[in-house]
Amino acid sequence: MHIKEQKELFAQAKQWTLDAGLMIRKNLNKPLSVTTKSNHKDLVTTMDEQVEKFFATNIKQKYPEHQILSEEGFGDQVTNLSGFVWIIDPIDGTMNFVHQKRNFAISLAIYYDNVGYIGIIYDVMADEFYYALKGEGAFKNDVKLPPLAKDIVLSETVLGLNHSWLMDNSFVHEKYMQQLIRKIRGSRTYGSAALQFAYVAEGSIDGYLSMRLAPWDFAAGKILVNEVGGLTTNIYGESLNLLNRSTVFTGNRHIQQTILNDYLKTK
Ligand code: IPD
Ligand code: CA
Ligand code: CA
Repeated sequence: MHIKEQKELFAQAKQWTLDAGLMIRKNLNKPLSVTTKSNHKDLVTTMDEQVEKFFATNIKQKYPEHQILSEEGFGDQVTNLSGFVWIIDPIDGTMNFVHQKRNFAISLAIYYDNVGYIGIIYDVMADEFYYALKGEGAFKNDVKLPPLAKDIVLSETVLGLNHSWLMDNSFVHEKYMQQLIRKIRGSRTYGSAALQFAYVAEGSIDGYLSMRLAPWDFAAGKILVNEVGGLTTNIYGESLNLLNRSTVFTGNRHIQQTILNDYLKTK
């Protein structure tokens, strides 16, 4: 993608993201219709749908040849990643949105031929706008984020982790989780995968591990973390496929091996 095209697309994506954020904030205290999808933990609200519809309508109107891969069904049935693909989670952290009215984000990425060029993660209530442009770096509210630390050791590491691992009846996961928590300094659970990618990029956590994420949870974050020198892989250290759900590690490359090797050793 040409740099001029990348900048123009980013300006448009940024504007739509800020508009969508405003729409969410304006309607925050209005009655909300909440329904469940696959189970009682998997929520969707009319606001998730409204925001996704907003993006899908605008993208289809301005860029009819672009594909949209998104969570709530207003995008396309994407089966290949050729050309432009917008990957969108209209609200990442819906449970936080419903129960806390904060700590949720809009996650938007633009890929071209399977390469990520633009990643946006917008913390709507904190008004923190994280973005990355391939080759140009990652930014938080227009301030460039520095490269991730090189001199990191596991005992001083804070990781984003998800307790739902403990429920999948897998001894391997349980044992691994216990060992890992013993070795690191601390763990945090924020309830939004996208925000945890943003925190990795800004260095406020050193890594984030999840046993199951969808492409719209990690597509933007992966670009951000990449631009500060971090790594995003599955739990086996392999690269992620943007058409599938996957286990995910993202974080400082200097702890990736230790963390993933420890996981493999439990098998
Ligand atoms: C969820 C959040 C959560 C993660 C789940 C995701 P949603 O996204 O990112 O932190 O643990 O796996 O599904 O449903 O709020 O968009
Ligand atoms: Ca999500
Ligand atoms: Ca979502």
